[in-house]
Amino acid sequence: DTRKLLVLPGDGIGPEVMREVAKVVTWLTAHRGLKLDIAEELVGGASLAKHGVPIRDEVIALAKEADAVLFGSVGDPAWSHVGFDKRPEVAILRLRQELELFANLRPAKVFDALLDASTLKPDVVRGLDIMIVRETVGGIYFGEPRGIETLPDGSRRGVNTEVYTTAEIERVARGAFDLARVRDNRVCSVEKCNVMESGLLWKQVVTDLHARDYADVELSHMLADNCAMQLVRNPRQFDVLVTGNLFGDLLSDLASMLTGSLGMLPSATLGAVQESGKRHALYEPIHGSAPDIAGQGIANPLAQILSFAMLLRYSFGREDDAVLIETAVSNVLASGFRTADIMSEGMARVSTAVMGDAVVQELRKL
Ligand code: NAI
Ligand code: MG
Repeated sequence: DTRKLLVLPGDGIGPEVMREVAKVVTWLTAHRGLKLDIAEELVGGASLAKHGVPIRDEVIALAKEADAVLFGSVGDPAWSHVGFDKRPEVAILRLRQELELFANLRPAKVFDALLDASTLKPDVVRGLDIMIVRETVGGIYFGEPRGIETLPDGSRRGVNTEVYTTAEIERVARGAFDLARVRDNRVCSVEKCNVMESGLLWKQVVTDLHARDYADVELSHMLADNCAMQLVRNPRQFDVLVTGNLFGDLLSDLASMLTGSLGMLPSATLGAVQESGKRHALYEPIHGSAPDIAGQGIANPLAQILSFAMLLRYSFGREDDAVLIETAVSNVLASGFRTADIMSEGMARVSTAVMGDAVVQELRKL
């Protein structure tokens, strides 16, 4: 029952926040019977500096073999002058492509202690815990035809096309239904079937799949524009939201502001189920490498730690350990520990390392 974990800290604050995850891993290994076979590799600017490429083929192969990948962040201003294929960010783009990571999962969870960080009224977001599942490899960002053409009269037109196939819709919907079963068992499917053919097919495919394989899960449908409004009006009505690439891009950014703080938000990207029954999955905070604060020991490690909790829940089936970590984080915040990004009056401002230690202290008490 040993699981293979590939750890890719990356650049900037990536390695700093990953060190705090290591403390949590050490504790779980000693006290909760977690057995991990961990490999760690360079990606991004760190890999460019040593190997001349943002990610080596060997690392891609390791990612394919691993049961899960824990990713930090890539991006380094030192490499911003070079060509596109030598940008640190190519590391994450290649991983998404090669592991066919087609579903991006973004939870928006509000911790009581950080209620005042939300852009909404406390009463609207208290206890909020929703998950947005966004299709990431299809839809209007990739559909053909696309391009900018010059018309006979010399004027130009830009074209993008939203294309979704039954298979593309089914696999992301399956991911959402599976997730709902280990959450509050409710899925809301979001499209604009009133004006879009791809949206109409989306709704039909989700409805058929539900009837066929997921009748135990509660399914509802909502138009994307209404959904944006509902997320601000009453976000707690949702459990799992599933939607296409474009609407998911907008709605997940909107939802992240319901919680208010970038340094607190984890994410996952799931790929296809392999023949072995294993599903490729990569977990990372939604924030980047934060070059403006890198090296100062002040970054918030909680998004990275919560990404690891998601990994335990969704890739390793260790719900209890995931809850333990999330409870520890919640308690640490309730005790007043704050990194600079979530600092408010009367609280104790702490470093990255002290925040990580505090989470482990709290795990000991649970
Ligand atoms: P960013 O998320 O790195 O930083 C935005 C702001 O939030 C900065 O002021 C930063 O200091 C702050 N911040 C971010 N994470 C924080 C944390 N854990 N604790 C405290 N403060 C935090 O986004 P930005 O500045 O747009 O991008 C910086 C670099 O990161 C770029 O090279 C970008 O391409 C890359 N990036 C990489 C991602 C990835 O690896 N998946 C995702 C987003 C950006
Ligand atoms: Mg976005």
